[in-house]
Order: sequence, then C-alpha cells, then structure tokens
Amino acid sequence: MSQIKFGVVGAAGRGASFFSAISANPEACVEALCDLNEQGLAETAARVGVTKQYLDYEQMLDDAALDAVIVGTPMPLHAPQAIMALQRGLHVMSEVPACVSLDEARDLVAAARASSGTYMMAENFTYMRPNVLVKAIARAGLFGEMYFAEGGYIHELKGLNEITKWRRKWQTGINGCTYPTHSLGPVLQWMGERVAQVLCVGSGHHYRDPRGDEYENEDSISMSCRTERGGLIQIRVDMLSNRPHNMTWYSLQGTKGCYEAARGMGDQPKIWLADRCEQVEWRPLEDLAEEFLPEEWLHPTEAQLQAGHGGGDYLEVQDFVRSIREGTPPPIGIHQAMDMTLPGLVSQQSIAQGGVWLDVPDSRGWR
Ligand SMILES: NC(=O)c1ccc[n+]([C@@H]2O[C@H](COP(=O)([O-])OP(=O)(O)OC[C@H]3O[C@@H](n4cnc5c(N)ncnc54)[C@H](O)[C@@H]3O)[C@@H](O)[C@H]2O)c1
Repeated sequence: MSQIKFGVVGAAGRGASFFSAISANPEACVEALCDLNEQGLAETAARVGVTKQYLDYEQMLDDAALDAVIVGTPMPLHAPQAIMALQRGLHVMSEVPACVSLDEARDLVAAARASSGTYMMAENFTYMRPNVLVKAIARAGLFGEMYFAEGGYIHELKGLNEITKWRRKWQTGINGCTYPTHSLGPVLQWMGERVAQVLCVGSGHHYRDPRGDEYENEDSISMSCRTERGGLIQIRVDMLSNRPHNMTWYSLQGTKGCYEAARGMGDQPKIWLADRCEQVEWRPLEDLAEEFLPEEWLHPTEAQLQAGHGGGDYLEVQDFVRSIREGTPPPIGIHQAMDMTLPGLVSQQSIAQGGVWLDVPDSRGWR
C-alpha cells in the first residue's frame, strides 16, 4: 500500500514537531510544507528535504496531491484550515484546541461529518507515558467509580506572548480557560465521560505586558467541570504567574483508588488501589507498568524512540495513520476533540457572567 502523503501547515513553527514521527512511520511521508514565513519555510524544507513548498495553504491543498494535513498554525486558524481540508476529502490532524468559538465548533463538526476524510485532534498530553498508564488502569476498573479529578496547565509564557503574538490575543487576551485541552484531555479519557456544565472564576490580574496593558486573562483560571454522571473535575490554567517551570498536574479519585502525578523535585507519580495494595499507602505508578501499559509503550521500537517523548509522538501519528488505513475512529475524533475544547469556550461565558454554572453542549446531538 502506498504511503499516506502529509502536508504540514505552520511548518516553520509547531508543525515541524510532527516531522520525525511522520518520517519514522513507514506508512507515511512528509510530501509538502506550507508557511507564511518564507525564510522559515525554505530553511525547514531544506532541513527535511521536502521540495514542495507553499506560501498559500489552499494552493497546497489543491496542487500537492496530498492524503492528509497537519494543522500546526496559530489557534484561530485551526478550524478554518481543518474545514478547507475536510471539504476536499483530506484527512486532518489538528493542533489544539480544535477551534476558538462555538460557531466555529459547529462548522467544524458539520465539515467532519460531511467529509470522507478523518479528523483527529493532536492532544499530545494524552500520549504521555503516565497518562497512558493511568488510562489503562482506569479502563480495567481498578479506580472503582471515578468522581473527582484535577488537571493543571501551569506554564508561564509572558515572554512567548511577545514572540508568537497570536498568544497575546487568543490565550492571554481573553478571560476564561482559553487553553484547556492539555489539562482536561487526559482526565476525560480516564473518567470516560463528558463535561456537562462548567463554572469559571479567576484569581485577578497581577501582571502587565511590556506595553503596560493588563492581561485580559486572569492569572490563575479555575474551571470547575461537572461531568454527566455528576463527577467533579477541577482545572487550573495559568499562563501568567511568575514561577519556575512545572507545566502539568493531574490527580484522580475513585471509590477504590486514587492517583497523583509527580510534582517535580524528584517526586514520582503515585497510586493507591484498594485491590492491589495491602496497606492504605502510596506506591509508585511505575510498579504497574509491566501489567497495564500497552505493548507498544512497554517495548518501543527504535523508530518510536527517535520520534521523541518516549515514543508518544510516534504513537499519536500512528493512531491517526491506522484509523485512516483501517477506516476506524481515531482516539480523539471530532466529538472527543469537542469534549476537550467546548468546556473552555463555555468557561469564557461563565467568567464573564461572574462565575455561573453553564451547560456545555454535546456535539453528538448537533445536526
Ligand atoms: N500540543 C502542544 O504541546 C503544543 C505546543 C506548542 C504549540 N502548540 C499549538 O500549535 C500552534 C502553533 O503554535 P506555535 O507556538 O508553533 O506558533 P508559531 O507562531 O511559532 O508558529 C505558527 C506558524 O504558523 C505560520 N502561519 C501563521 N499563519 C499561517 C497561514 N495562514 N498559513 C500558513 N502558515 C501560517 C507562522 O508563520 C508560524 O511559522 C498553536 O495552536 C499552539 O496552541 C501546541
């Protein structure tokens, strides 16, 4: 079978992070690159040895004879560029979040439904080894009924706001949970359900940008999520507070077990499971790797490891390629992408109304 030919838009930025995973996959290849940054595009193309280069996205879609695209451009372009590709019957792997408004969300879902192409959102934090392991343990039922979880994306990026200026508008220029998927995505996979309602509040404004303007986004955004079965998920997204790097935090509580991610400074992910521990005490999550981790994580190939992040980057692309080849739903298809994206969009309305509970739509019901 011939290789799946990928075009990558945003190739001089985030899009480049997909090259090694695509190139390491014998069933895929990077066929064409697109970026508005002419010099960055030429340098990237020379580095990866790709001759088809485009400054215009639609021209790439129409002329490059592609099977699939990676959308690695700034947030407001994800939905429009994904829709353009889906309308041409191309497969789409989009960076996070899936879209930046509820109207866009509806348009994207409609386009994905109507298309012969497969849509997958590249929520790469669901491909982190501890998160994959917790998911496997959760699926085996060992946490019992899961009713509380926490997710945190705590990544000071005031400096990056000045380099990638779209961030100053779309991440820190709007109040509410503007970048929810890294913290919420893994937790939703563990709990196996959807957020039905959100309530969002913030910690106030303690920082200004280099022009002296207050960031519209409050420093620490707290988004409470009520799940369909009545569980509670607490999300903290903070992209402004002065602090050392320690980007992620997760916890999970069920009737028969609990999990806490590593907090840094030599800490390690830890778990307690009533069915597996004689005492009520923590044990390292890693103790359960041999039994629960999927084979491809336990014994990664050389190609996997070369692609980065312990093989996660490779497996993310492999899942997408497999779903295209086999015609099976990808792990983060259009509705899972919406489950991870929509709570953040509704949170922006909640915080604007002083922190009220608001319903989060279920895209499965959209017609
Ligand atoms: N999943 C992750 O861990 C992760 C990490 C970083 C960034 N991201 C996401 O990736 C996206 C890009 O982030 P970034 O940090 O690379 O931003 P960036 O600004 O550094 O790069 C974006 C690239 O897109 C190009 N571009 C902009 N508009 C374009 C257009 N119309 N056509 C073609 N190219 C265009 C720019 O020239 C630039 O090279 C964002 O949505 C961000 O949220 C995800």
